[in-house]
Amino acid sequence: MDQTSLAGRTAVVTGGARGIGDAIALSLLEVGARVVSFDKITPVARREGVRYLEVDVTDEASVAEGFAVIDKEGEAPRILVNNAGIQRVGLVGRMSFADWSAVMATHLNGFFLCASQAVPRMIELGKGGAIVSIASTAAFVGLPGRGPYSAAKAGITSLTRVLAVEVAQLGIRVNAVAPGFTRTQLIQQALDDGSLQEGWMVERVPMRRLAKPDEIARVVRFLASDDSSYITGHTIVADGGWTIQGVNQAPDWLGKK
Ligand SMILES: NC(=O)c1ccc[n+]([C@@H]2O[C@H](COP(=O)([O-])OP(=O)(O)OC[C@H]3O[C@@H](n4cnc5c(N)ncnc54)[C@H](O)[C@@H]3O)[C@@H](O)[C@H]2O)c1
Repeated sequence: MDQTSLAGRTAVVTGGARGIGDAIALSLLEVGARVVSFDKITPVARREGVRYLEVDVTDEASVAEGFAVIDKEGEAPRILVNNAGIQRVGLVGRMSFADWSAVMATHLNGFFLCASQAVPRMIELGKGGAIVSIASTAAFVGLPGRGPYSAAKAGITSLTRVLAVEVAQLGIRVNAVAPGFTRTQLIQQALDDGSLQEGWMVERVPMRRLAKPDEIARVVRFLASDDSSYITGHTIVADGGWTIQGVNQAPDWLGKK
């Protein structure tokens, strides 16, 4: 890992107050980036060195205000991480339009609104940039009850490709990371309300465990850094093998007879 290429660069991380976003903020901080978190909530643990701004990524004016604060305080962002996310579970035909819209607005409008502010600033600064968005394995498979979430995440992978092509010649790279089940409050909430069960989740993962937030953060940091200088438009899957598994059976030569 090139520990130096991110030093001093301004990085906006949406949803940086907890979970994967908090791990991403920490991971970028470790290599000297100037990290600004956009979140609706107060951070669970305030990390020294992270600038926390109260921003709602679904609200155009709020996003614009967040970027205006950054303009006043230092160099424009060279890194944008679209991580803010929510989950609403329900079958099409039973789920409310309000729930559908909230999920689409957070994931997809949030990406569009933040990129709309970040890209012109990256171009003006003239030093290139990296946009990394958090998709999900839900983008690639059919998960009942997760219509808006899956559609929004698939939309993120698509917008990633479109934007990558639009800005490729300007030195701005656009990629995404698709995590599998990662142990955060989002998952804990689903475990608590019964819409997910840990045994079933782990059984379906060839590596037989959930991801730690830091394991996702390190992939984001790679895509944000110059180590990935020739990668653009792609989505890297970090899921312990969940999407490539054929049969749900582990081989029996690991000590099991
Ligand atoms: N945890 C997983 O298993 C998993 C798997 C795949 C993808 N993801 C994705 O990773 C991202 C982070 O998930 P997490 O598990 O850390 O969730 P989380 O709920 O722990 O954290 C999400 C953060 O986003 C913030 N947020 C939500 N709506 C916002 C808004 N409108 N404006 C600003 N901030 C907002 C929340 O306040 C919260 O701090 C999400 O995009 C999620 O869909 C998570």
